[in-house]
Amino acid sequence: MNSYKIAAIPGDGIGKEVIAAGVEVLQALAARDGGFKLDFETFDWGSDYYKKHGVMMPEDGRARLQKFDAIYFGAVGAPDVPDHVTLWGLRLAICQPFDQYANVRPTRILPGIEGPLRNVAAKDLDWVIVRENSEGEYAGQGGRSHRGLPEEVATEVSIFTRAGVTRIMRFAFEVARSRPRKLLTVVTKSNAQRHGMVMWDEIAAEVAANYPDVTWDKMLVDAMTMRMTLKPQSLDTIVATNLHADILSDLAAALAGSLGIAPTANLNPERRFPSMFEPIHGSAFDITGKGIANPVGTFWTATMMLEHLGEKRAAERLMRAIERVTADPSLHTPDLGGSATTRQVTDAVIGAIHGDNA
Ligand code: IPM
Ligand code: MG
Repeated sequence: MNSYKIAAIPGDGIGKEVIAAGVEVLQALAARDGGFKLDFETFDWGSDYYKKHGVMMPEDGRARLQKFDAIYFGAVGAPDVPDHVTLWGLRLAICQPFDQYANVRPTRILPGIEGPLRNVAAKDLDWVIVRENSEGEYAGQGGRSHRGLPEEVATEVSIFTRAGVTRIMRFAFEVARSRPRKLLTVVTKSNAQRHGMVMWDEIAAEVAANYPDVTWDKMLVDAMTMRMTLKPQSLDTIVATNLHADILSDLAAALAGSLGIAPTANLNPERRFPSMFEPIHGSAFDITGKGIANPVGTFWTATMMLEHLGEKRAAERLMRAIERVTADPSLHTPDLGGSATTRQVTDAVIGAIHGDNA
């Protein structure tokens, strides 16, 4: 029997609630499947840990994660710790050294969910956003001088490397090729940003030459927000820089009904390091502890983790269970306009897993 070691890092806020739910669902799924085992170890890293120890995770944290097959991550962010500390201290401190350069964000309108767009049916919105996850605007280059003085200056430099852009373009063309429509949109801003973004466009065209079966086009990021809203059916796979895709993926999640549903995978495609799977939503301290966080994003995320581990049958079973549950409005959490609790949704998904005889 295949056995996988999974590091669970619930992190902050509702991260703790949704990861607990996700672990329960995954264990039910493994029991139902019978063909694999999941061995979880939970790490208490995050803002509470920071308040005790002055760091978001211990110094040997990354070395300890290296031996795992995957990381199941909740969220980071706390009202009383600066966001850049929580982000760089934990999430980016894992993503960047583990070279998880491909961030994959599928978006669909699940059964029973109503998106905010009039005249857009579920079949009209089925996207995968590929976010460059290692450089660009999140490279961490820059600095501040003359702090506090009127002449204070701060720089935030975007880094685009030929190697980094080439590998994300190849990855995106592969994703596009694996989907029925074989359609890729490359998001850019090369009209205003004439160095990094122009190289980005050039490399897209070079890589495209190796994928004659994939139809591709280019969109400026501002115009892209309109196309996503007005012509969602014209899009399929999308590739964008770290920051552009960050913004577009929130828009995508909203157009699909709720940020509470959206999943993501931070992949090291070469598998030299563990990959990390997390819901897109944050720690949401406004609803922390109320038991009403939507666990669906964390469950959908688990299907991506199972696919990455090679457990396709279990991934499909979990997706079917999720869709059976979202189809029932009495099982919608408040972010979807319902009144269901995390507990009820979790129990319903576990019930659907047990009742699935495929
Ligand atoms: C995301 C999040 C993060 C990001 C935040 C928490 C910094 O919004 O995963 O999209 O910008 O990368
Ligand atoms: Mg974001």
